[in-house]
Amino acid sequence: MQDIAQIRVIAHRGASFYAPENTLAAFELAAEQGAAAIECDAKLTRDGKVILMHDDKVDRTTSGRGAARRFDLKAIRDLDAGAWFAPKYRGERVPTLDEAMALWARRGLFPQIEIKPCDGRAEETGKIVARETAKLWPRDLPRPLLSSFSMRALEAAREAAPGLPRAWLTERLPKDWQNRAERLGCVALHCSRKHLTEAHARRIKAAGLALRCYTVNEPALAKRLFGWGVDSVFTDCPDRILAAV
Ligand code: G3P
Ligand code: MG
Repeated sequence: MQDIAQIRVIAHRGASFYAPENTLAAFELAAEQGAAAIECDAKLTRDGKVILMHDDKVDRTTSGRGAARRFDLKAIRDLDAGAWFAPKYRGERVPTLDEAMALWARRGLFPQIEIKPCDGRAEETGKIVARETAKLWPRDLPRPLLSSFSMRALEAAREAAPGLPRAWLTERLPKDWQNRAERLGCVALHCSRKHLTEAHARRIKAAGLALRCYTVNEPALAKRLFGWGVDSVFTDCPDRILAAV
C-alpha cells in the first residue's frame, strides 16, 4: 500500500460516478480502476457504531427514510444502499467502518476517512471514529488520514488517537487558515477546488502543509491544480483522472 504522500488521485466516496457512493462496491471498483486511495464519510448510528454515509438523512442513498442518527446499526443494515443508484447494485448495504477497512487493507487502498458528524455529535463522532480506526487498522500499513469540516471533531480525534494524522477540511479558506490548521495539529489542508486560487495554493504549500482539493472530475482541472502544487485530488471518476495524469 502506498502512503498518501505519494498518491495524487483519491476516489471520492469510492468510484462514486459509477457505483453507489460509500459502499463496498464503490471501493472495490475504485481499486479495479487503479486508484491507490479512497475517501469516505464516517458517522455514528444511534447505538454509537461507525457507518459510512455522507448525508445526515438516509433518504438519498438508501431505501429508508429519516435521520441516520435515529437508526440503530441493525436497522440501518436492513436498508438497501445500492438500488437507488442502479438495479445491478441492489443488495448493497451501508458499510460499517470495520468491514470497509478489511476491504481497503485487502485491496491496498489507502483510507482517507472524513469524520462527518450528525448535528450535535461532533465530539462523540470524532472520538469514536479515531479510536476505532486506530484499533482496527493493521499496524504494518500506512496510518489512515482523518479529516473533518468540524474542528470539534478533529480535536476529539486528536485526543482519542494522537498518532493518527489529521487534515482540516474547509470549503473556503478563512483568513486565519494557518493558525487553525496549526492549532489542530493538522498535517494537511483539504479544500474545495471552487474557491482555491494559485496564490492560496502556493502559500499553503509554503507553510509546509499537504494540500488536497475536492471534487475534481475533469482531467484539465486536475492538471492545473497539480501545476499549482496541489498534492492530490478527490474525484468521483478515478479512471478518467488516472488516465490523464
Ligand atoms: O473530503 C473531501 C470531500 O468529501 C468533502 O466534501 O461533502 O463531499 O464530503 P463532501
Ligand atoms: Mg467527504
